[in-house]
Amino acid sequence: MIFEFIKIMSHATTLLAIKSLKGQRPITVLTAYDFPFAKILDEAGVDIILVGDSLANVVLGLESTKEVGINEMVHHAKAVCKAVKNAFVVGDLPFNSYQIEGSDVVADAKKLIAAGCDAVKVEWFKDCLNTVAQLRRAGIIVMGHIGLTPQTVDELGGFKVQGKTAEAAKKLYDQALALEQAGCFSIVLECVPDRVAKILTDKLTIPTIGIGAGSFCDGQVLVIHDMIGLSFDKSAKFVRKFKDCRLDIENAVSDYVRAVCSHSYPGENECYGMQEEEFELFRAMTENLS
Ligand code: KIV
Repeated sequence: MIFEFIKIMSHATTLLAIKSLKGQRPITVLTAYDFPFAKILDEAGVDIILVGDSLANVVLGLESTKEVGINEMVHHAKAVCKAVKNAFVVGDLPFNSYQIEGSDVVADAKKLIAAGCDAVKVEWFKDCLNTVAQLRRAGIIVMGHIGLTPQTVDELGGFKVQGKTAEAAKKLYDQALALEQAGCFSIVLECVPDRVAKILTDKLTIPTIGIGAGSFCDGQVLVIHDMIGLSFDKSAKFVRKFKDCRLDIENAVSDYVRAVCSHSYPGENECYGMQEEEFELFRAMTENLS
């Protein structure tokens, strides 16, 4: 349990603090992939910052989350962790770290922990419980993720709401209980009917974090770029755009281009001066040169 001890010391929000929020107040979670966003989220008081493998689509312009590897995740996790003082930081384990033959999930999880993350997240797949058990034995704190799990989206029939039939909902219920039993501290429920999420939330003793799973979850997570209008794909039904930063950025860039082209930027007080004497000397030096 050495990792749990070390990580409790690194950010002000502890594992215990997160767990004890269940039933007290909603837990706020957002993704971040770099220093400036992480600093803003942390200072705004977000409880958990997730360095999601949505990095692939949102920041790197890739098609699938399966296209990022542990090196990219660690690179971005380091930047996030450098900025965060308070929030609990979770790093996503990418597909290749645990869902392919020959992967060493504990070694890769340790890289995320060494980058400064407090915990790692794994998506449900056929051998998920074994993966969680390995991580827990190594003392690593684990968040589970069920429902619409993008790393195995092809097996789920595409980006569709999960758990819509009684049988499918019961599978999610069994997965959630098994992940709690295996030692996860929290579970993300992605794209499941809100009434199914409520049954799971009421049954589990650990917090559920919903994304497209309605208001009964113990907390909510969104991809930061989606909720501030910086995503370019069509948004899912559950995404609320709290701000259109794309428009603000476009306006700022147009203003900059106009100012540069009209010589109104940089202005006099945006330049550095020089003592008259030194300048005259310098001018004389250059005038004498051919
Ligand atoms: O990678 C990610 O951003 C996620 C969230 C959508 C939960 O897993």
